[in-house]
Amino acid sequence: MSRPMVLRSPRRGSLRDDLALGGRITAMRLGGLAFALRGDPVARLMHKPWRLDPYPTYAAIRATGGLARSRVGISAVGTHALCEQVLRDRRFGVRLADGRPPFAPEDTETKRSGARPSEPETSLLEPVDLSLLGLDAPDHTRLRRLAAPAFAPRRLEQYRGVAEQITTGLLDDAARRGRFDLVTDLAAPLPITVIARLLGIPTVDADRFARWGRALATALDGVRSVAHAHELARTTAEARVLFTELVERRRADPGEDVVSQFVGALDAGQMSLDELVTLAQLLLVAGFETTTNLVGNAVRALQATPGQWEALVADPSLAAGAVEETLRYDPPVQLTARIAHEDTELAGAEFRRDWGVLVLVAAAGRDPEAHPDPDRFDLRREQTTPHLAFSGGAHYCLGAALARLEGEVALRLLAQRMPGLRAAGRVVPKTATILRGPRTFPVAA
Ligand code: HEM
Repeated sequence: MSRPMVLRSPRRGSLRDDLALGGRITAMRLGGLAFALRGDPVARLMHKPWRLDPYPTYAAIRATGGLARSRVGISAVGTHALCEQVLRDRRFGVRLADGRPPFAPEDTETKRSGARPSEPETSLLEPVDLSLLGLDAPDHTRLRRLAAPAFAPRRLEQYRGVAEQITTGLLDDAARRGRFDLVTDLAAPLPITVIARLLGIPTVDADRFARWGRALATALDGVRSVAHAHELARTTAEARVLFTELVERRRADPGEDVVSQFVGALDAGQMSLDELVTLAQLLLVAGFETTTNLVGNAVRALQATPGQWEALVADPSLAAGAVEETLRYDPPVQLTARIAHEDTELAGAEFRRDWGVLVLVAAAGRDPEAHPDPDRFDLRREQTTPHLAFSGGAHYCLGAALARLEGEVALRLLAQRMPGLRAAGRVVPKTATILRGPRTFPVAA
């Protein structure tokens, strides 16, 4: 059965909405900064200068038992055991207990079990619908089952050759110049080209696609300003047009790409067009900046820790180990969040229904109870406790195998082709709270 190709537009804000939003953002930022200055660890994770190096704050949270209560309206957990517990506990979800999204106004209609979302759920505070990441069961379970086969590790192996070919081309260009930027010349174009291939995006749209990916990734940290909210709403609207056209094209001329596979589910009435389009958009957001940061953080740690880059050059088969160690030591996604669906207890403290908790997976990676000598980067480390960099439980990263594959290819070829690689200027970090990695990283081959 084929469904009508109709998409509804995200809700538009009026001037009154803009003023209210602007006031709310300013109040939240100023309030948060005041708490950060007074030592509130959760507020510190959201504000400079503390968020540029969050690891001392994570250590402070672990030192007080791993649960931080905060005045900013959300708590945080920072030990491996507590993070894993929250991620796996079915009493925690990503929506409010009644099924509304976290920032929904009180009067928003509840989406209950079995009711299929037919309309993008965006507001100015949450202008990007993050598909699976913003859904609880049963919608999450249904959509994830439909999406998962396309990400089976065996199926993704076909992208190894693609990743090698792209990386070789990028390194050829970089080698000719001698000095280049690790992020803009390798770590960013590799994943964006792979996702474009995966989704079957035509080459002509690749630049626009990369720009959207970067813009939408900023939504993960929340809306910074009214202008930011409008930029995100505009980007989402543009991306939806491209993905809708893509669905039409794949329907007429199916290929091996992921969108062609999803069109089957759309035509069988198992997912709506809105769901397909937001899922494709999530793949763009989830698979781009994250993998860019993985490569950037890995090279940074390998170069900053004596002997590590040399060890990789001597034995490039250690690249997979370097990827795992980076994911533990300095993960691209530092934290995620969950909401209690009922009154509950965590680490001896009471948690009210609808209370939020940040799950600091980066703090879990430095927990000495889980990882001996955790502040030491060692690409040969035996990962006795699996890290939580790809989360855990129902929302475990769907693209983990692809991210590992791309990271391994990038590091292995880099070590083989450029054994004398060295930093050639100041590394400028991104300033986000959730996604961590270098913005620019000048290097010489
Ligand atoms: C190093 C790179 C990556 C890291 C560190 C990473 C990390 C994560 C994390 C932490 C989550 C779960 C968030 C939560 O529990 O709330 C997640 C979910 C997800 N990731 Fe990744 N990711 C990476 C790469 C990718 C790639 C390459 C793709 C696909 C192209 C991808 C697709 C997804 C999807 C679809 C989800 C949502 C799963 C769900 O909600 O059921 N990720 N990722």
